[in-house]
Amino acid sequence: MRLGGTIGRRRLLAAGGAAFAAGAAGLSTADAARDGPAPGGAVAAAGGGLARAAARCGVLFGSAFDTEALDHPAYGELIRQNSAHTGNLNSFKYDWLRSKGPSADFAGAERLLAFATERGLPFTAAVLVWNDYPPAWLKSKSLAELRYLFDAHIDETMQRFAGRVAAWVVVNEPFAPWDREPGGWRTGPWYTAFGPDYVARAFRRARAADGRARLILNEAFCERRDLVGAAVRPALLALVERIKHAGVPLDTVGLQGHLQLQHGGFDHADYADLMRRLAAEGVDIEITELDVDDSAMKGTADRRDAEVARHYEEFLAAVLQVPQLRGVTTWGLSDRFTWYHEVAAKESPLYPRKPRPLPFDEALRPKPAYFAIERAFLAAARRRR
Ligand code: G3I
Repeated sequence: MRLGGTIGRRRLLAAGGAAFAAGAAGLSTADAARDGPAPGGAVAAAGGGLARAAARCGVLFGSAFDTEALDHPAYGELIRQNSAHTGNLNSFKYDWLRSKGPSADFAGAERLLAFATERGLPFTAAVLVWNDYPPAWLKSKSLAELRYLFDAHIDETMQRFAGRVAAWVVVNEPFAPWDREPGGWRTGPWYTAFGPDYVARAFRRARAADGRARLILNEAFCERRDLVGAAVRPALLALVERIKHAGVPLDTVGLQGHLQLQHGGFDHADYADLMRRLAAEGVDIEITELDVDDSAMKGTADRRDAEVARHYEEFLAAVLQVPQLRGVTTWGLSDRFTWYHEVAAKESPLYPRKPRPLPFDEALRPKPAYFAIERAFLAAARRRR
């Protein structure tokens, strides 16, 4: 196995290995076997994988998925095996539910939710309101129509899934400083409709339609040590302070955690400090979309894998010091199904170097990142004892 010499057979068994990886997914056995002998009986041995390690320190671990997990059963099984909760990548987004017009098609979202429910995994639906990626048909709507569509979307969608999803990302990525709006707000149809008040309105309406789902405000970029991070961190904190003081039903702040070296690196201590200050407002915290972009890393795949692993471990060591951290979700689980393929393909259609941002490789074998994540959870469990 191309995992570095220090990773023992026992740990591979615990993670689920090549025998499992080459299973029902339609992934080639040759691919999985090429690098060495496959550990057998891995599925039964795994029994919880990363979720089990996270549970040792009281944190829920999971991976978000979409239709690829339904189309590739071994991948779906890997998600189940390593997750204590899960959620969608795309299928609950406005432009997926209402791609052609205001009338929704919930079939795709229902299939994902059924997958999670059948496996006993609490499900976080994402996202209800996001100013990015509006469907084309929305762009010609009047102000009055936008306001009506905003309310109608929240009411219909929240009522439909009430009692069936554990949580909703109600508002995603409210800030985008490059839009140059006062306060750093991200512009888009919903911001046009109500201005900054769209956030409080969305949460109040979501709570009215579903009294039980945990309601999440989700933001990106906070880990960045650049101008964007420096603008978004205080803007998010001020927003949370303001709406919590106004009695808006916000339960959780989600910090995405797409770790990208190319934006000035990270200051994990500052980030953990932000988490503590957010938590002081009476919310809990989740890392909602964790992955580590290796596109700015140099060297062989082994070398990049080691560096990706190190970033996972350092990041988790910092955030696991915050007691209000309730969950960590990775944005996918295998390098075969990462959004970074789309990013790389946009740069160059032939992109020869495949992205490797996740804990399992393209053949569903655990990478050094898997063991780094596991180590971080177990170290936090020892500290918390
Ligand atoms: O499924 C179609 C495919 O049929 C078509 O051939 C192809 C052509 O471009 O597009 C495919 O859909 C793409 C889809 O991802 C699935 O791959 C969409 O164009 C593309 O816009 C969509 O991007 C998603 C993006 O959010 C926008 O919704 C990414 O998968 C998803 O990973 C990304 O997730 C976001 C979070 O929601 C918020 N935080 C950042 C994160 C990463 O950008």
